[in-house]
Parts: sequence; structure tokens; C-alpha cells
Amino acid sequence: MSDLRIQPSRGLKGEITLPGDKSISHRSVLFAALADGTTEITGFLTGEDTQHTARAVQMLGIPVEGIGSSRLVVHGKGLDGLSEPTCVLDLGNSGTGMRLLAGLLAGQDFFSVLTGDQYLTKRPMGRIVEPLRRMGAVIDGRSEGKLAPLAIRGARGKIKALDYASPVASAQVKSAILLCGLYADGDTSVTEPSKSRDHTERMLRSFGVDVREEGLRVTLQGRQRLTTTGMLDIPADISSAAFFLVAASIVPGSDLVVRNVGVNVTRTGIIDILLAMGADLTMENGREQAGEPVADIRVRYRQLKAVEISGDLVPRAIDEIPVLAVAASYAVGTTIIRDAAELRVKESDRIATMALELRKLGAAIAERPDGMEIRGGGALAGALCESHGDHRVAMSLAVAGLAARGETTVRDTTWIETSFPGFGQLLLRTAY
Ligand code: S3P
Repeated sequence: MSDLRIQPSRGLKGEITLPGDKSISHRSVLFAALADGTTEITGFLTGEDTQHTARAVQMLGIPVEGIGSSRLVVHGKGLDGLSEPTCVLDLGNSGTGMRLLAGLLAGQDFFSVLTGDQYLTKRPMGRIVEPLRRMGAVIDGRSEGKLAPLAIRGARGKIKALDYASPVASAQVKSAILLCGLYADGDTSVTEPSKSRDHTERMLRSFGVDVREEGLRVTLQGRQRLTTTGMLDIPADISSAAFFLVAASIVPGSDLVVRNVGVNVTRTGIIDILLAMGADLTMENGREQAGEPVADIRVRYRQLKAVEISGDLVPRAIDEIPVLAVAASYAVGTTIIRDAAELRVKESDRIATMALELRKLGAAIAERPDGMEIRGGGALAGALCESHGDHRVAMSLAVAGLAARGETTVRDTTWIETSFPGFGQLLLRTAY
């Protein structure tokens, strides 16, 4: 168990490049496995979550070279090229890995079992199991399939197309159903209450699959083959950049450039919210990479003000709300976060854990069933905090500590390795 000790910073300075996008990395190795031919993936996230997915793909009989590095070579065998794994597939802490694989495995002609760590096995799986059963897969698990481990008997040849209205805006649910839909005869559609990240749609298109979108409804026809362009270069993760964008916004004297960040509009809620809070943030060198928009982001310190975060903005910033709670603690006025009950079923209950831990630094936070109310502006003081086994809680608290008086210690920060290897060293190098 390792701890991260944070001293007050006199400003974050310089230019940094961050690890690859987690969501896009998971999808890259899964979709490359389903394509005919070899794909070279660069910028692949070396975090534990995405390595679990890459190893699972390997256990499904697909040769993957370079696991552990940021350059993978995946020798895809086509839509019907996976083979039955002889062992349980362990996805560690990764909800994306488990839910996307469940959708894919539901369409196979073999049996497989998915499991994860003590946190993942507590997270809701009914949201994918129920629609995948309707498509014809036989799935069992703890609590009638609401919790992992999940045992999946795929229904290749018998998968029924589904027109699904999802009760939650979830890219994992949407992607699981679309992946299973690749094995159906006919059109599978998912309609969401508001738009979640669309990396699956974009990457399937870049593999030549026709994916149609009408408003909040996404449709694909089954049995389309995936063809690789041979190369995929993954941009840096805006969810990792978020810790540095907030840190530079709250520490006086900061002037930081974060290079090559994915700025897909389904993920840029953090930028819109920080701008609404008055942050000094500019995007430069906009370009396209792997079918995704990319830019460099420059951020300089400026006193933030409170904001309301609700509605369609929430899914566009869902993973950044812990660090936005930190920004709100240093902003003038009262920030309201609502419509964010999904935070309660992430790697930890992020409403409860962030409220509990930020209070230890002296922040004034009230929990709401679907969000938080944060009275900012008061000075925070360093404290001893816990990660609760949640990478984003750990990193958010480290950021809070940079602008607090005295030393902050975040305990049990090994979880950061799931999504952001090297975070601690990079933060200490950037924040003088
Ligand atoms: C992800 C989707 C989001 C997000 C998670 C990654 C993905 O979860 O919170 O970190 O890669 O599809 P939901 O789809 O459950 O909202």
C-alpha cells in the first residue's frame, strides 16, 4: 500500500503529455481483435484496467503483442475468430472491460466467465445482463445476474436484434448491446436519455462498420465485418488531463500546457464547466486523430466562481465530477451538482467518498441523493485522506492538497495505476 504526500504548490508550469485515453484503449484492442488482419495500436494506456482487457483478448485466442507497453500489435481473426477461454477472465477494477466484454461474449458460440476485484464485483451488472438476455444470451451471476462473476453462454446464430431504450445514459451499456448486435440478424438500436461518450460509434466506423445516429438513437445492422486500416494512434485521456486542468486553475502562479488531449464533445463537459467557472483555459492546434478530435489545452490560474452542474452536462463530465468538486471547494460561491446519481455506482460511491474526504480538508459539502452542494471560497488545510480504492478520488484529493495549507497525505494510492500510471511523479514534477 503506498501513500502520496502533497505539499502546497507555488504553481504548475510547463508542457506535459499524458497517457492514452482509457475508453478508447479498451475499444481499440477489442475491435482490432474482431477485425480481419493486423492492427498496430500506439498510445495505448498502460494502466491496469486496459491491460486486463488486452490479456482477456489474448485468452480469447487473439495474438496480442506488446502487453505492458503503449504499443500493441493485435492479430485480429475477424468477427467469428474468438475461441473459448480455458480460464476465468479477470477484468480487475474495470467496469468498461467487464461490460463491453460481456456484450461481445454474449454473441459467441462458447462459454465464458468474467470476474473482477472486490470493487468491480459490487457494481451493477443487471443493466447489461437484462438486455443481453433479451438478445438471447444465457447469463448467470450472483444475485440472479445483477453482480459479477458472470457466466455467459453465448448464443451465436440465435442472437435477436434489439431496439433498446436504456434507462441510463451509459456508454458501457450502449457499447455492450451494440457489440452483441454485431452478431444479430437485422438492426440493433440503443436510445439513451442523454448522450454518453460515442467512442464505440466512432471506432466502429473507422473499422468500416455502418453505424447510424438519429438524435439519441444509435443503430447498427448485424453481421457487418470489421476491416482494419492497420494503425490506430490513441490521444491522451481528457479524464486524466482534468486533474491538471483543475490543479492549474486553483493554484496561483500556474501556466500549464497539456498536449494532444482528446476533445470529443461527449467528453468535454470538464472544459465547458471550468469555462463557466471563469477558468483561463484555451484550446490550440485542433486536429483529428483516430477518428477523434484532439487539441492542446493551455490553462492559467484564475479565481474560479461557483456553477451549477446538471442535466445533459453530467454524462459529458461524469468521471470529472470528483475533481470538479475540488474546483468548487476553491471557487467563490455555492456550486450545485445534481442529476448525478450514477456517481454512486462508480469505482466507489463518489458522492459519499468525495464529501467525506474533502470535509477532512475543511471543505463545506452537503451530500444530496443525486449530487452535492459545495460552499467554496474558504481556505482548505492539508489532512490525512483515504482513496477508498478509487483512482479518481485519490487523484482529486492530491489536487486539492496542492492548493491547501500544510501537507496532505492520500493513503492507498496504488489504485491510481488502474488509469494513470506515473500520476504522482508527474504531479510532483509539474507542481513546484
Ligand atoms: C466509460 C463509460 C462511463 C465512464 C467510465 C468509462 C466507457 O461509464 O464513467 O469511466 O469507457 O464506456 P458508464 O458508461 O457506466 O456511464
